[in-house]
Amino acid sequence: MVFLNGTFLPLEQAKVPVLDRGFIFGDGVYELIPVYSRAPFRMDEHLARLERSLGAVRIRNPHAREQWREIVLGLIERQPWDDQAVYVQVTRGVAKRDHAFPEGVEPTVFAMSNPLVNPPAALVDDGARAVSAADNRWLRCDIKSTSLIGNVLLRQVSADAGAVETILFRDGVLTEASASNVFVAKNGRLLSPPKSNLILPGITYDVVVEIAQQLAIPIEFRDVREAEVRAADELWLTSSSKEILAVVELDGKTVGEGRPGPLYRRAWQGYQDFKRRVMRRESIPA
Ligand SMILES: Cc1ncc(COP(=O)(O)O)c(C=O)c1O
Repeated sequence: MVFLNGTFLPLEQAKVPVLDRGFIFGDGVYELIPVYSRAPFRMDEHLARLERSLGAVRIRNPHAREQWREIVLGLIERQPWDDQAVYVQVTRGVAKRDHAFPEGVEPTVFAMSNPLVNPPAALVDDGARAVSAADNRWLRCDIKSTSLIGNVLLRQVSADAGAVETILFRDGVLTEASASNVFVAKNGRLLSPPKSNLILPGITYDVVVEIAQQLAIPIEFRDVREAEVRAADELWLTSSSKEILAVVELDGKTVGEGRPGPLYRRAWQGYQDFKRRVMRRESIPA
């Protein structure tokens, strides 16, 4: 079952008019909320980011926070899987094609939930390959917009190379990756690009920062130059579906020792423990 404009219905019956501005202009925003053992992980943070994205693109938020929670929870309980990825999308609505905002139009709300696919154990244990590219996206990468053509083209660069991600540099400075944030480890310290208009403020990024603080791993938020990335001891990707994933090869060159490093192992374990703790606290009685 999926959710469309107030109703839960089978996917095959969910239909949107072709003049929906999501279809015509990519005029919408979205969220992806991971769900473990039927409990949404950091739901309020994801919903806060959705609200922020809606505000940034001036789409009227059609639901109060509590209603959003009910939609997410209602969707979860209608799926057969324990671990899920809830996708929520809001577009500006259906209107005659014209760039300027239409008046009096209801936003289109669509949500679905699929099985959550985390990286397989072999990828966690052995690390992943990535390539790099120039970050040629727009200057509002902090908005989780459905206009993802920039990210799609950049992700395809790594897909074509048989790699898991494309790490992006803008003017010689690390931004993020096509669908993840990036952390760099050097000499026992973590470096991370600060939140700005050039990166998506990842919910996993915040979790990783909290874990680093809990583990007393020093972390510095500052511009990270391309040369520093290439000379890193460790390179991590973070996202709701990847959790924390070590990059062991960038553009065909070994990163650090060529295997997931000691800080990665601590942070990855910390993330699993953190998840379990949160799940125990937040789990919904059956
Ligand atoms: C461009 C980009 N950066 C970062 C992230 C990570 O965000 P989160 O940790 O909230 O999943 C994503 C997630 O899909 C993304 O698309």
